[in-house]
Amino acid sequence: MVRRPWVGGNWKCNGSIASMKVLAEELNSTEWDASSVDVVIAPPSVYVVTVQSLLNEKFIVCSQNISLTGNGAYTGEVSGDMLKDLDVHWTLIGHSERRQRYGETNSVVAGKVKTAEASGLYSAVCIGEVLEEREAGKTDEVLKEQVLAFIPSVSDWSRIVIAYEPVWAIGTGKVATPDQAQSAHEVIRATIAENVSSDVAQAVRIVYGGSVTAANCDELAAKPDVDGFLVGGASLKPEFKKIIGACVNRAKL
Ligand code: PGA
Repeated sequence: MVRRPWVGGNWKCNGSIASMKVLAEELNSTEWDASSVDVVIAPPSVYVVTVQSLLNEKFIVCSQNISLTGNGAYTGEVSGDMLKDLDVHWTLIGHSERRQRYGETNSVVAGKVKTAEASGLYSAVCIGEVLEEREAGKTDEVLKEQVLAFIPSVSDWSRIVIAYEPVWAIGTGKVATPDQAQSAHEVIRATIAENVSSDVAQAVRIVYGGSVTAANCDELAAKPDVDGFLVGGASLKPEFKKIIGACVNRAKL
């Protein structure tokens, strides 16, 4: 099964027009065949339009979040229909920072997956265990629970990427070992196989996130079930080009 690698740059709440101009110029000099790897950039929502105009057409601009509700009296929200209207076709959903700081439960995540699909968007759904869960040997159980929660929201699996992001690895410099990532991705794929279908499980892209850098991306991308990355800190630096390169090499395997 050939799965096209997917690599996301999550800029989180960072940057300015000036810094994004510099970063976009650097990224635009990356050479790769856009039909072999999806490269998705998620700037803060107020900069989505700016970044669309700065990046070349090979990059896919993505939202970091989507409102659970649609258009209407929902102050401060950005609806799926608005994203679609702006030609933004991808959104992250359930990033651990949203789960931990903004109260996004598995059920909110499931609702957002449904909302995104209803607006015709593609979603990168983030899951991952916290350190205490890993230390208690509960990683597999937590991942299964997080996947099972949003399965009923999906009718078109070609619109879903799953990002496995162990919370203890996000922004900490403590990356999962390639074996830890592979093992988690196997659990996620098996959960999809058992509860959706083996065809969907084989086709769905599962990417790793958590302290991915130019130094560790090659060995992670060499694992059979690591279909790409969701990158935070390193996506704000020129080294993101090297991480795209690791996915390009994976596409050639
Ligand atoms: P990090 O963040 O690469 O800075 O660890 C990853 C993420 O939050 O998606």
